[in-house]
Amino acid sequence: MSITSKEIRQKYLDFFSEQGHSIIGSAPLVPDNDPTVLFTTAGMHPLVPYLLGETHPAGVRIANYQKCIRTGDIEEVGDRWHLTFFEMLGNWSLGDYFKEEAISMSWEFLTSEKWLNIPIDRLRVSVFEGDDDAPRDEEAASLWKDLGMPAEQIYYFPKSENWWGPAGETGPCGPDTEMFYDTGLADCSPGCDPSCSCGKYVEIWNDVFMQYNKQSDGTYPPLEQKNVDTGMGLERIVAVLNGKKEVYTTDLFKPLMDKISALTVNHEDTSKEIIADHIRAATFIIADGVSPSNMDQGYVLRRLLRRAMRHGRKLGIGDFFLEDLAKIVVDQYSEFYPELEKNKSEIYVEIVGEEEKFAKTLRDGEKQFAKITKHLKANDTMPGEQAFHLFDTYGFPLEITKELASEKGIVVDEDGFDEFYKQHQELSRAGAKKRFKGGLADASWETIRGHTATHLLQSALRVVLGEHVLQKGSNITPERLRFDFSHPDKMTEEQIKATEDLVNEKIQEGIDVHYEIMSIQDALDMGAIGLFDDKYAEKVKVYIMGEFSKEFCGGPHVNNTKEVGKFRIVKEKASSSGVRRIKAVVEEA
Ligand code: ALA
Repeated sequence: MSITSKEIRQKYLDFFSEQGHSIIGSAPLVPDNDPTVLFTTAGMHPLVPYLLGETHPAGVRIANYQKCIRTGDIEEVGDRWHLTFFEMLGNWSLGDYFKEEAISMSWEFLTSEKWLNIPIDRLRVSVFEGDDDAPRDEEAASLWKDLGMPAEQIYYFPKSENWWGPAGETGPCGPDTEMFYDTGLADCSPGCDPSCSCGKYVEIWNDVFMQYNKQSDGTYPPLEQKNVDTGMGLERIVAVLNGKKEVYTTDLFKPLMDKISALTVNHEDTSKEIIADHIRAATFIIADGVSPSNMDQGYVLRRLLRRAMRHGRKLGIGDFFLEDLAKIVVDQYSEFYPELEKNKSEIYVEIVGEEEKFAKTLRDGEKQFAKITKHLKANDTMPGEQAFHLFDTYGFPLEITKELASEKGIVVDEDGFDEFYKQHQELSRAGAKKRFKGGLADASWETIRGHTATHLLQSALRVVLGEHVLQKGSNITPERLRFDFSHPDKMTEEQIKATEDLVNEKIQEGIDVHYEIMSIQDALDMGAIGLFDDKYAEKVKVYIMGEFSKEFCGGPHVNNTKEVGKFRIVKEKASSSGVRRIKAVVEEA
């Protein structure tokens, strides 16, 4: 059988439309307003406020394809089924249907002749075996059996396998039932089952019964609203339906893999796959406004690009080849993600810029390497600390240190390097934890107040500075809010004071905060502003605070501006060219 990725994507959307779902667009890879994670890791992630009970403008049944990034440990990517960037097909029930309908829709889509037509003997499913937090899911198992799944193809697994979420550290989660495809390979060992990673069974879909709200103290109180969250990895389903043993031979990767193969005669290892995965991820990340840097999303992007370059060197391709590959990604995917075509010049500039920087890093690192090893001779050992210093201070990868060392017959103490590397990771992890505490994903009261204050701030800036002011980004934690906006000049003391006073005046007025769901045209006609780029949306949600503020937004917000408390601007500074940044706090009045 042969079926294209485009056909599968469309079948999924068609099937769920027929089942009463509204199709929504893919959200950006960099979550808006949620500092708990760096990237959108699943289709449910942009939907967290709605899973917690906010009303979604598209209704209670939703489906889409969503671009996702999972970095786990980037260094391990390169096997046949795991990717850093992937597309997830998903359908959601926001307090509407639950287990029975979710499972029967999955069954129909997978097995019906009209849809994917997968033979039942190729399928396996797993359900949650139960523990102190939630009971054994006999209900899901018997639903599968009633539909025709043989009992011996149903497995019970613990939380480590059959539980999903939260996307960050806290938030909506629950037991799931997972669907696997048997590739027909032999069992790797007598105990081989769908939880085994040998490659015989490939997980293709996951239905999560999202009914708990994990707290930071580790408890799982129930959610008021019972939801369903599902995710089907597009690359995997395309691969298995076409009888492929990996994702890289599917039509989603073919143009990239052909191009990379044409650049090298080396066919031995996984370098080509790593390059293909990383350039696809990097292209999408840059299209969503990220530049390579040493922090947060920018750091992940830098690692992806540099690792791709390192493997390019390994294959003897040379230092400058990624722009041509990014062009293939832009051409192939813009039909589904128009932001690629729209931002292609930035994409190419960033990629070539990083290639230049990395080439310079390598030159500087080589000089430094020569200095460090001046007194070493063949069979000497280079201490791990020195190799780590090259890596940490000069960005010089260990593989390249090893390559140069071996040319001189020097051995690198890799265990020593690993120890320093681990210490460094623990430090940065501790830092990251601190930074990513809180956020709208856990909808703390402080964050909700900060979010409402952000709307008031944007409107106040437009009164004080003019209507050219528009949001360029925002990030809210329980401790403070940060708001980036377009404005060419530094704000004067008077302007800052006037803005702060106006926000406080509007808080004092006690304006009712509510939302309305309406057509995009009606929203624009009423003067709504804000970030809005869902190409599928017919209806949008607009948060309204009297005549003063009308913004496209998912929420949540306080009910009355009085609840915000007292607003204070702490700092105003440049963020990037033509963009200013305000840091502010809301305090109890
Ligand atoms: N959120 C679930 C997953 O990513 C569907 O597997």
